[in-house]
Amino acid sequence: MKVGILGTGDVGKAIAKGFEGIGYDVMIGSRDAKSDKVLAAIKEVGAKASAGTFSEAAKFGDIIAICTLGAATENAITLAGTDNFSGKVVIDVTNPLDFSKGMPPGLTVGHTDSAGEQIQRLLPKAHVVKALNIVGNPDMINPDFPDGPPDMFICGNDGDAKKKVIEILNGFGWSSVIDIGGIEGSRVLEPMTILWVLYGVKTGGWRHAFKMIKKS
Ligand SMILES: NC(=O)c1ccc[n+]([C@@H]2O[C@H](COP(=O)([O-])OP(=O)(O)OC[C@H]3O[C@@H](n4cnc5c(N)ncnc54)[C@H](OP(=O)(O)O)[C@@H]3O)[C@@H](O)[C@H]2O)c1
Repeated sequence: MKVGILGTGDVGKAIAKGFEGIGYDVMIGSRDAKSDKVLAAIKEVGAKASAGTFSEAAKFGDIIAICTLGAATENAITLAGTDNFSGKVVIDVTNPLDFSKGMPPGLTVGHTDSAGEQIQRLLPKAHVVKALNIVGNPDMINPDFPDGPPDMFICGNDGDAKKKVIEILNGFGWSSVIDIGGIEGSRVLEPMTILWVLYGVKTGGWRHAFKMIKKS
């Protein structure tokens, strides 16, 4: 299987390593396929990783992970070519963070819409699943916490796509993945990131994750 990762930041690299670890061929996409950043990223990820433009990476992947700056995601998708996403599972890891007023950030969209829904509207023929946006990149793969395994919440409109993403997340070491419904669930998952950030600002630590406590 092949995955196209759109994004050369810490998240793109972490997710790329995760896919490498479960046997996927990985292409990391960037605005410039020869930039120092993308070349360093593929070197860090491993032997099976290659570099490309956003468009080449989207074309390459049977599955695509969007790991771009929130404010730049629409541009990255346009550069990638919307047709290259058709019929594919698309994992949306982005958060629409607004740093214009400093820390902690706000969100550029919320309550009645979300980045997840915007991406699904941009890519009507793709199956967008929001996942991994509520945890820091160092814990996206093999999350290991002394208080026990955290939960990952996902949402999306297509049941088969969510099944595939759950399988991938299980491979990444997430033993508990909770499906909260359609892609509009991103209206809840994206603000959870602000809660995650506020706790980090307050404690000065950035290695925390969410767990839902259940009676049944
Ligand atoms: N950092 C975390 O721990 C964390 C955790 C959960 C979710 N997230 C979310 O994951 C996403 C990625 O975060 P990150 O920290 O890895 O990296 P980032 O700095 O937010 O994004 C880097 C990527 O955005 C692309 N980009 C920047 N400006 C662009 C533009 N004008 N047009 C097209 N593409 C552009 C860059 O392209 P080039 O490669 O061409 O430079 C690069 O690939 C964000 O949405 C973030 O909110 C982050």
